[in-house]
Amino acid sequence: MLSIGPHELRNNVLLAPMAGVTDAPFRELAWRFGAGYVVGEMVSSRSDLWDSPKSRLRRCFGPTGAPHVVQIAGGDPLDVADGARRHWLAGAQVVDLNFGCPAKKVCRKAAGSQLLRDPDLVIEIVRATLAEVEVPVTVKMRTGWSRDLRNAPDLACRLEDEGVAALAVHGRTRECRFMGSAEHDTVARIKARVHIPVFANGDIDSPEVARRVLAQTGCDGVMIGRGALGQPWLLGDIAGASFRRRGPVERLSVALEHVQALHAFYGEPGVRIARKHVGWYAQRMQEQCVVHDGDWTELGKQFNRLEEAAAQLDYLGAHLSQAA
Ligand SMILES: Cc1cc2nc3c(=O)[nH]c(=O)nc-3n(C[C@H](O)[C@H](O)[C@H](O)COP(=O)(O)O)c2cc1C
Repeated sequence: MLSIGPHELRNNVLLAPMAGVTDAPFRELAWRFGAGYVVGEMVSSRSDLWDSPKSRLRRCFGPTGAPHVVQIAGGDPLDVADGARRHWLAGAQVVDLNFGCPAKKVCRKAAGSQLLRDPDLVIEIVRATLAEVEVPVTVKMRTGWSRDLRNAPDLACRLEDEGVAALAVHGRTRECRFMGSAEHDTVARIKARVHIPVFANGDIDSPEVARRVLAQTGCDGVMIGRGALGQPWLLGDIAGASFRRRGPVERLSVALEHVQALHAFYGEPGVRIARKHVGWYAQRMQEQCVVHDGDWTELGKQFNRLEEAAAQLDYLGAHLSQAA
């Protein structure tokens, strides 16, 4: 049985943390459709930044039954450890440390993947965090700083020695950002050198790709981010090894439910947040539903112009009735 510390995972297909996406409503859906584990959006280690409405919502618990995993980004060992302790005391069951984010906003403050240039500092942060919490600490990272500095395998061994409970590795370097394709050979090298669970991440968007990456890397599981946009059922489908074709009715009814949940969770700002999700549902329908089902890109475009929560729900409801 696959476990992270005391938490047995119900399967080995994990939802990646995505700021602005994996909020509580999204995690709820992915979990209900069968994801094995879900991670929330990254939060800053600095607790003085936590009091904005946005930050409060980011720190909300996810689905009942799933371990509550909080991902922290920060570059100062004491800050990160303090943030982790506060989250642990507030109920976090796993603390995940972000050494993978390439965003300038994070990296200017020497956090995220910036830290891969300074493995000693990574270790200091991990050590300080482990000293402050009594829950598993996991790490999400990239394969290294640059193509010339793919230092993640060595770092992974040091992380394991410190007591990190699991690793998720995005098969790109910091320098690659999101360009090119993920390379999983470095992830395979990491898996070969450590005994803790390792999850391969990057460009996994179907059961076939998941199978191939698992075979190539020997990893314990896969972590999926962008593949789940507009299709929160993907993780459950991969875990069940059955990529079921879904028609417009099923997709629109999930989209409608998702939008209702966003309105309930965010209030007024949920109207804006719903637009990007419906855009992704529409894009998936365009890619995956047969042509006579309609031009779904138009649905996304028209939805974007709606200003009111009620208008958004009416619009999706009308399309759902038409499609049924
Ligand atoms: C919109 C977006 C937000 C992201 N936010 C985070 C984050 O908060 N923490 C993190 O560790 N990675 C973050 N990532 C990176 C993903 O977790 C993942 O490593 C990356 O997208 C590659 O996996 P994928 O190809 O399955 O999407 C984000 C990615 C995207 C696209």
